[in-house]
Amino acid sequence: MERFYTFVLMANQDDKFKKVISHAKEYGYVFQSSEIYDGLSAVYDYAQNGVELKKNIRDYWWRAMVQMHDNIVGLDASILMHPTTWKASGHVDAFNDPLIDNKDSKKRYRADVLIEDYCAKIENKIDKEVAKAEKRFGETFDKAEFVSTNPRVLGYQEKIDTILKRMGESLGNEDLADVKALIEELEIADPLTGSKNWTEVKQFNLMFGTKLGASAEHAMDLYLRPETAQGIFVNFLNVQKSGRMKIPFGIAQTGKAFRNEIVARQFIFRMREFEQMEMQFFIKPGTQKKWFEHWKETRMKWHKSLGLGEENYRFHDHEKLAHYADAATDIEFKFPFGFKELEGIHSRTDFDLKQHEEFSGKKLQYFDHEENASYTPYVLETSIGLDRMFLAVFSNALQEEELENNTTRTVLKLPAVLAPFKAAVLPLVKKDGLPEVAQQIVDDLKWDFNIAYDEKDAVGRRYRRQDANGTPLCITVDHDTLNDNCVTVRYRDTMEQKRVKIEELHDIIKQEVDVKTWLQKM
Ligand code: GAP
Repeated sequence: MERFYTFVLMANQDDKFKKVISHAKEYGYVFQSSEIYDGLSAVYDYAQNGVELKKNIRDYWWRAMVQMHDNIVGLDASILMHPTTWKASGHVDAFNDPLIDNKDSKKRYRADVLIEDYCAKIENKIDKEVAKAEKRFGETFDKAEFVSTNPRVLGYQEKIDTILKRMGESLGNEDLADVKALIEELEIADPLTGSKNWTEVKQFNLMFGTKLGASAEHAMDLYLRPETAQGIFVNFLNVQKSGRMKIPFGIAQTGKAFRNEIVARQFIFRMREFEQMEMQFFIKPGTQKKWFEHWKETRMKWHKSLGLGEENYRFHDHEKLAHYADAATDIEFKFPFGFKELEGIHSRTDFDLKQHEEFSGKKLQYFDHEENASYTPYVLETSIGLDRMFLAVFSNALQEEELENNTTRTVLKLPAVLAPFKAAVLPLVKKDGLPEVAQQIVDDLKWDFNIAYDEKDAVGRRYRRQDANGTPLCITVDHDTLNDNCVTVRYRDTMEQKRVKIEELHDIIKQEVDVKTWLQKM
C-alpha cells in the first residue's frame, strides 16, 4: 500500500486558484463558454463531470430543504416574468452596483469591491501574525485568545471595521462622493496599473434587458430575472392555497439568474449567468428574529455536514442592508482568494409581498385560522449560489500530496456524496476475461450508483486518474477474481486497499455515499 505523509503546500493563493481553474478544465468539470470564439467573459459551461457534481450539490440542498421538511415545498417559476415584477421588487430603481473608472487604464471596477479587496489585504496581515504565533507557541497556541488580545491584530481588525462601517453607511445613504473619498484616502490604486486617477462613483443597474414580441413597435421590454426569489413571491398565494399550507411554511426553488456584473472575475465565483438555490420561509410578523437565528444555524449545519473544515466558514453580519431587509448575514467561505460570501440569509420583512399587492392590486394575504385574522406574512430567505457552492467544494477538495516514495499525487477529495462517479471498476489487464467480469460489476452497480469503467493504461496510472477525478473508490478485478469472486477496493483518500466479495460492493459503496448518512451529520 502506498502511504502519504505531508501535504505539498501550493506556493501561494494565486497559484492554488490557477491550479483549480486548470484542473476544472483538464478533468472535464468547467469550460469557458464558447471557447472556440475566445469565450464570453464570466460565462461558463459545465462539462461531463461538472454537470454531475452540480446536480449532486443541487440534490443535496433539495433533500435537506424540501424532502426533509414537511412544511417546505418546491417551485419552478419562469425566468421571464411580467416587467412590473421588477418595478415592485425595487430592482428597476435600486438593483445597482457602485462603479468607478480609472481614467488612465480605462478599466472599470466596483468601488465597494476595491475597498473590500483593500480590507482583505489587511486580513492577510492578520493571518500572517496568527501563523507566526502558531509557529512560536506550538501546541499550546490558542488562536481565539491570540486574536482577541494581540495589539497588532486588534489594530488591524479595528482598521477593517472602521473602513467597512464607513463604506456601508456611505452606500446606504447613497453618498457616492464619500465612497470615492474613501478610495482616495486609502490610496487605493488600479490593481492592474497602479494608477490612482479615478472618476466619480456612479450607480449601474445590473439587470439584463430583453424584448418579448415579434414586431419592434409592439415589443414589451422584459428583464432576465436577477434572482429566483420573485417567482416565489408572486406565486405565494397560489402555492399556499393549492397546497393548503399553514404558516410557518417555505417555498424552495433552484434556477438560473442573470446579472450584468461589472467586475466579472474569479472564475465561477461571480458570473453573469448563474444558478441560485433559494428558499422563502413565510412567517408570522414579529417572529422574524427567532426564524433568522433558526435558519442561520440550520444552514451552517448543512454546510458543515459536508466536512470541508469548520475553520473555513464564518458569519458576516451586514452593515449595509438591502432595500428589503431588516437583518441579514452572509455565510462566508474561505475560497482560494480569501473569505467571501457563499450564502445569504435575509430577514426580508413583508416588503416584497406588500409591494406586489400594491403594484398588482391583488391581495397577497394569509388568513390565520388560529388568530381569526388576515395578515401579510414576513419572510425569511436563504439564498445560495450553486456555482459558488461548486467552487467552494471543488477548490477545497483539490490537494497535492507528497507520497512516501518521493512522488506526488493530485487528488480531488470531493465529499463522496457529491462526487460525479462513486466508484471506478478497473480490470487489471485487458484480456483473460477480466474486462467481461468488470463490465458485469458495472452493469449490476449502475442501477444505484454512477460508476466509471476504465481499462486503459497501467493500474497505478488509472488510480491516479481516478484520484484526480475525485472518484472515492476504485474496484480492481484481477486473475484471482475469476476463482474467488473477490475484488480489491481502494479508497481514494487513504489509498488503503482491501479484498472484498463482489456481492459486498453495493453495501460498501452505499456506506460511503448515502445521502442519509451525510445529512444525519447535520
Ligand atoms: N434573493 C436574494 C439574493 O439574490 P444575493 O446575496 O444577491 O441575494 C444570493 O445572492 C447568492 O447568490 C449569493 O450568496 C451568491 O452565492 C449567489 N450569487 C450572487 N451573484 C452571483 C454571481 N454573479 N455569480 C455567482 N453567484 C452569485
